[in-house]
Amino acid sequence: MDKAIVVQPGGGFDKVTVTTRAAPAPTCGEIQVRLRGSSLNYHDYAVVSGMWGPTEPRIPMADGAGEVLAVGPGVTEFKPGDQVVSTFFPTWLDGEPEVVGFATTPGDGVDGFARETVTAPARGFTHAPKGWTAAESATLTTAGLTAWRALHEEGRIKAGDTVLVQGTGGVSIFALQFAKQAGATVIATSSSDEKLEKLAALGADHLINYRSTPEWGETVRNITDGRGVDHVIEVGGPATLAQSMIAARVHGHISVIGILTGLAGDFPLVNALLKQQQLKAVLVGSRRQQQDMIRAIDATGLKPVIDKIFPLEEIVAAFRHQESNKHFGKICLEM
Ligand SMILES: NC(=O)c1ccc[n+]([C@@H]2O[C@H](COP(=O)([O-])OP(=O)(O)OC[C@H]3O[C@@H](n4cnc5c(N)ncnc54)[C@H](OP(=O)(O)O)[C@@H]3O)[C@@H](O)[C@H]2O)c1
Repeated sequence: MDKAIVVQPGGGFDKVTVTTRAAPAPTCGEIQVRLRGSSLNYHDYAVVSGMWGPTEPRIPMADGAGEVLAVGPGVTEFKPGDQVVSTFFPTWLDGEPEVVGFATTPGDGVDGFARETVTAPARGFTHAPKGWTAAESATLTTAGLTAWRALHEEGRIKAGDTVLVQGTGGVSIFALQFAKQAGATVIATSSSDEKLEKLAALGADHLINYRSTPEWGETVRNITDGRGVDHVIEVGGPATLAQSMIAARVHGHISVIGILTGLAGDFPLVNALLKQQQLKAVLVGSRRQQQDMIRAIDATGLKPVIDKIFPLEEIVAAFRHQESNKHFGKICLEM
């Protein structure tokens, strides 16, 4: 029996227990994986903290990476010893989105990866980037793929474009890295001058403190000589969308991703019409998009920015660290 974390119905940090779970031998189409890394996302925080607590006992965490122990009949893509990373939508392989919400997402609608071993369909994994640790690979399932899809699949980013990224969480830092690799100019915001310095070290070209400059949309327009940015990675939500629309150019592309400031708010419809902006809701991505991203990572040598790694059993301390907002980039778990 291997260690597993379970969140009791309703969620809450006081309802997190350490238990054991067996991972059976894989049957047709399945692989058995020795998990070694996971990473925290806001969505996992919502499940574990009780904001969107589970209705039944649930193993949390959407991101999982590790090493294949055994493969079931019919599995040709993987062999024992391969390093793999999970996908956010185990049944969305390619093409248009086909799943509503999180019913199939590990750690939410089904059991996730806060455990030492798992047996699951092989199609719910891809090969991991070459030479990455499991904790590093796990950062790709949710945060990495969301940023990749927003810029490359939906935004069709090209060299010379200008990208606005908000804050210093997992999605935004991956977006900064992917944008720089694509040859784009990046304007980055943060509530902290110290974190802004770190963003500059990662290649951000222009920095704005969104606390001391609440009307940052106009500042972005000034930086771009009045044109506005080509892409916005919109993670703030209701309290940032209006500024994002000021910051984006005519027909600019806004990836609607995050809900950090709430679940609903006013929508400046006239502004959207006047500037004919393209607002696209993005919910992570498909298995094929994950494979494309990992191919690009292998070609470029990009590495994720990890703030801190906690042992699996200290999952609540890891979420407390996320809650403190002191982190810069990803917080990970190691099993
Ligand atoms: N749609 C999707 O597929 C998808 C996928 C992943 C995440 N998300 C969502 O995207 C958001 C970010 O997720 P994450 O995992 O990257 O979070 P995270 O790692 O916890 O990052 C949170 C960071 O966001 C920044 N922030 C907070 N309020 C802000 C504001 N008003 N304006 C700008 N930045 C602000 C803060 O940066 P500073 O400390 O630098 O200010 C904070 O450190 C969450 O709402 C999450 O649910 C959506």
